[in-house]
Amino acid sequence: MTLAEVLSGAVEYLAGRGIDTPRLDAELLLARALDVQRIELYTQHDRPLTESERARARELVRRRGAREPLAYVLGDWGFRRLTLKTDRRALVPRPETEMVVERCLALLKGTDEPRILDVGTGTGAIALALKQERPDARVVATDRSADALQLARENATANELDIDLVQADLLDGIAGPFELVVSNPPYVGADELASLDPELSYEPADALVDRGQTQRLIDTARFGWLVLEVHEARAADVADRMTGAGFDEIRVSQDLAGRDRIVEGRWTK
Ligand SMILES: C[S@@+](CC[C@H](N)C(=O)[O-])C[C@H]1O[C@@H](n2cnc3c(N)ncnc32)[C@H](O)[C@@H]1O
Repeated sequence: MTLAEVLSGAVEYLAGRGIDTPRLDAELLLARALDVQRIELYTQHDRPLTESERARARELVRRRGAREPLAYVLGDWGFRRLTLKTDRRALVPRPETEMVVERCLALLKGTDEPRILDVGTGTGAIALALKQERPDARVVATDRSADALQLARENATANELDIDLVQADLLDGIAGPFELVVSNPPYVGADELASLDPELSYEPADALVDRGQTQRLIDTARFGWLVLEVHEARAADVADRMTGAGFDEIRVSQDLAGRDRIVEGRWTK
């Protein structure tokens, strides 16, 4: 079979399995299986594949067809300027979280050597992006999950970024001060989980399910800026709760799709 035939078979298979972007996914998976750039799938389209190349491609396409997240099947994923290792130990970093980093950078403009805390770091996405884009920052990243922290450590090493990784339950035992605390806490309702995309069943439930983490952060973060990623339906409520807790300069920002996804406030007391 030629590369073009294998590619079109993969596209058809993934479409039949309910994947929204079957061509894109098939191209990325095939390029990874063959260790080539995506463009080379087309420049080599009539090349016959060896049995071992086909076996590699089949395995990756089968995993994606079982609705495993593309980032887990590929094993790495882009986040801002970083390439992060991604696997079942932590949530796949989402594009909207890139906007959270953007807000943090804007708030820290003019502050030299800022001290930053990323609570619930997962792959390390937010903490590592901030360290990469503000090399003068001192960044501490926490997670309750030892597995997630290990993955974040691997990502820090692979990207040659120096951050402190600490296992902690939210802010328990974390000594400040910090100019900015940022978090993308879990915000899916336990009752919502079953109705969401099957891909989410591969991600750690502790990274998804809201068990009151957002409220606890609002109640305990008492250092400078607090920047939270939130469920779009709850941004106004979180903003109200931050106001009620005594934060000033509350602002709600949107992701690239225009949804209210980021709430920030400043503790000045
Ligand atoms: C939605 S994921 C966000 C991961 C990463 N920051 C990102 O944006 O891609 C939430 C993270 O918070 C962690 N987490 C959940 N409850 C926690 C708690 N009580 N204390 C610390 N971390 C917690 C989870 O293990 C998970 O890594």
